[in-house]
Amino acid sequence: MKFKSQEVILKNRERVVIREAEIIDSKNILRAIRTYLPQSNFIPKLEQELMMTDPQAEEWVAKFAEQAHSLLLIAEYNGEIIANIDLTGSGRKIMAHTAMIGMGIIEGWRNCGLGTELLQAVIHWARQSTVLELLWLQVYTENDIALAIYRKMGFVDAGLIKDFFKKDGRYFDNLTMTLRVK
Ligand SMILES: CC(C)(COP(=O)(O)OP(=O)(O)OC[C@H]1O[C@@H](n2cnc3c(N)ncnc32)[C@H](O)[C@@H]1OP(=O)(O)O)[C@@H](O)C(=O)NCCC(=O)NCCS
Repeated sequence: MKFKSQEVILKNRERVVIREAEIIDSKNILRAIRTYLPQSNFIPKLEQELMMTDPQAEEWVAKFAEQAHSLLLIAEYNGEIIANIDLTGSGRKIMAHTAMIGMGIIEGWRNCGLGTELLQAVIHWARQSTVLELLWLQVYTENDIALAIYRKMGFVDAGLIKDFFKKDGRYFDNLTMTLRVK
């Protein structure tokens, strides 16, 4: 394992375990993603586009274990997966020092410090990595809560693509943010 499990106490006083995902978790991770996807307007994927089958989910989780500069963490409450965060290292040599972050939390667990804990965990891990130097992510500019935690963690704006997302005839801007970890 690349990441040592940790227990955190959230603002709602609940104890949650943050740990590295294992292949055996893949079905439950998929279930968590299928739960939080329709609960957010700021993940650029529609529920019906999450076509991953259980075996594909297993492959997806296995890749994180195989790739030294990638990491998939889950947050677990009483054995239920309530969130995940992934750090996907680039497969290209020229960008091997970079990794992209994606994350999501089930609705009832938002805004109580879990996103901050998950982000802190992957940033800390990336700082220990011998390969990673630059983390990046993309966020809807209307996603105030996500912007708040990214800015709090030191991410800086790296470029805006206007009208990048379009839903029901409405456009949304996409902001790329970066954090140097070395
Ligand atoms: C975005 C997300 C991961 C953030 O995680 P979280 O656990 O909800 O965030 P936290 O509770 O750790 O932190 C939220 C921060 O935003 C602040 N905040 C909450 N609502 C806010 C608002 N409307 N405007 C500005 N700041 C806000 C909180 O005060 C808190 O800051 P603080 O820790 O300095 O007090 C989570 O809300 C989520 O999964 N959302 C849906 C999916 C998503 O948007 N994923 C990210 C795609 S880029």
